[in-house]
Amino acid sequence: MHMELQGKHIVLGVTGGIAAYKAAELTRLLVKAGATVQVVMTAGATHFVTPVTFQALSGRTVFTDQWDGRVANNMAHIDLSREADLILVAPASADFLAKVAHGLADDLLTTMVLARDCPLLAAPAMNRQMWENPATQRNVATLTVDGVTLLGPGCGEQACGENGDGRMLEPEEIVEDLLAFLQPKCLAGKKVLITAGPTFEAIDPVRGITNLSSGKMGFAVARAAREAGADVTLVCGPVAQPTPRGVTRIDVRGALEMHAVVMARAAAQDVFVGVAAVADYRPQAAAEHKLKKDDGALPAIALVENPDILADVAALPNPPFCVGFAAESRNLAEYAQKKRDRKKIPLIAGNLIQHGFGGDENTLTLFDEAGQTPLHPGPKIELARSLIGHVARLLEHR
Ligand code: PMT
Repeated sequence: MHMELQGKHIVLGVTGGIAAYKAAELTRLLVKAGATVQVVMTAGATHFVTPVTFQALSGRTVFTDQWDGRVANNMAHIDLSREADLILVAPASADFLAKVAHGLADDLLTTMVLARDCPLLAAPAMNRQMWENPATQRNVATLTVDGVTLLGPGCGEQACGENGDGRMLEPEEIVEDLLAFLQPKCLAGKKVLITAGPTFEAIDPVRGITNLSSGKMGFAVARAAREAGADVTLVCGPVAQPTPRGVTRIDVRGALEMHAVVMARAAAQDVFVGVAAVADYRPQAAAEHKLKKDDGALPAIALVENPDILADVAALPNPPFCVGFAAESRNLAEYAQKKRDRKKIPLIAGNLIQHGFGGDENTLTLFDEAGQTPLHPGPKIELARSLIGHVARLLEHR
């Protein structure tokens, strides 16, 4: 992850629960992402992890006590919340949620939360029955109405030996949700379908024609669309990328399969983004058995053309807003514009192959009716966010 939280000041509240040990890793990830992290612990939390752990990881003094003599004006709750861009409480115990829902302020963390003028995000962590208890569910409903953002909880194995809802999200998931929270919801309510990665066109059971697309660009677009509030489906060829949170992923292999999966869903979408490097050709028929090396004879593989997924989506009677990608080794503007015209799509993102394939960063130029918009070179997720912002603006003026 690059410094996606650079310049953000986060107060991390830690309450008493076994998941408090995961808050140490969370602190590390937030700091790594560029945030300054001020940890505030409840007395309960200090039974699970010591403040020294958080002090070492955050590089800042940890506060645990409302009456801390280190704060000259004795108003730690005001000073700490005033400085914060947001307060994140992880783990958030049932007791903490209940107190906040009722406006109670009987320790530093709850007083600070009550005195805040910034968003509050909480990652609940508790036993399944505590989570399902009607009192907790009432509190959760109140907090949601009050504008508190709940991250999770997740479902699965619990420290108490039970299985069910109430597990704290993993630290990586909390950071991903936090980053999503910070993005404008410019595609709220929209359905977005995205293709990513290469396709694999089988020659025989173990060999095939493919390319070096890693899927990173397409996965970044999927993540950015989800961050923008869209309902996202990602259709991807063989890649080794983790699925972005909240995205529906469908794995495919060849172009024909990708075409079928996309065409079955395309008409119901608001936006379609073709990031996949789809093979233009496939072997006419994949051999049933592994090809043997015959002495002297060079094998010949007959190729047939694959369907053009993007062009077929754009040709639907009432197509979604279609966005293409073009990877070129030269003449980017000319070739990208030609592809846009040929496929009859309103927008295409052009990149040079030496920038686009494989790496974490890219250089993109957007081509549409109004001309070209070069984006600032950088991490694929930043470019994906800019692309999604551009799409949202074009959709608005459609
Ligand atoms: O995955 P990464 O390693 O992050 O690399 C990202 C990328 C370089 C693959 C990506 O940024 C990119 O440029 N993807 C498009 C690759 C390309 O040049 O595609 P194309 O020129 O073959 O096709 C143009 C457009 O038509 C693309 O949107 C493509 O998805 C679509 N297409 C092409 C052929 C086909 N049969 N069906 C299609 O839908």
